[in-house]
Amino acid sequence: MSITLTWTGHATWLIDTGSGRLLVDPFFDECPTSSMRAQDVACDAILVTHGHFDHVADLVAIAKRTQAKVFCNWEIAQWLGKQGVENVQPMNLGGRAAVPGGTAQMEIAHHSSSLPDGTYGGNPAGWLLDVGGVRAYFAGDTALFSEMERIGRPRGGRGLDVAVLPIGDLFTMGPDDAVEATRLLKPRVVLPSHYGTWPPIAQDAGAWAARIHEAKLATAHVPTPGGSVTIG
Ligand code: NI
Ligand code: MN
Repeated sequence: MSITLTWTGHATWLIDTGSGRLLVDPFFDECPTSSMRAQDVACDAILVTHGHFDHVADLVAIAKRTQAKVFCNWEIAQWLGKQGVENVQPMNLGGRAAVPGGTAQMEIAHHSSSLPDGTYGGNPAGWLLDVGGVRAYFAGDTALFSEMERIGRPRGGRGLDVAVLPIGDLFTMGPDDAVEATRLLKPRVVLPSHYGTWPPIAQDAGAWAARIHEAKLATAHVPTPGGSVTIG
């Protein structure tokens, strides 16, 4: 069993599970590095980490066009409802839901979460996925936190196959803390996210990957926008 992760730029990922396609944090048309336009995205479900613009900008349009079910916190679900998006599964931290290809659990993140209209966006989150026989952790926007050790702890004898971590710094953890996060999470594969979109979050992801490899923490892949990594 395997899944394919495609980074379209910034913190937006498409996950082909073999039995459905998940979209994380849709940000396409106003993302300067995006490899896709929102109108071309096909997906069966959408997972949202928090309410900031660079994670929900194309959420309403894609949800309405595709009718994909949206998994998000209670406050974002209310915001979507006001805009006519009804195929929504509201959740909160710790909750787990069935998604195409497996399950998704809403995990803690240390960040903030307001919606583009200024309303309260609830707690920010990460996603811990068991899909297509693969355990994948999307940290979302977050600082480093020591409970990453708990998130990476094996369940049923199985640890993380892949972790997707922000490295952009300034608004999330930067490269140094993302190395430490990898040490705590112990994934087989680690992928950088939330960097390179604008000059303030420019990073040398190749140099970061080299540090991961020198410390023998994981295999780091560095896709360019539009690039894919298969995990199996
Ligand atoms: Ni954010
Ligand atoms: Mn962000």
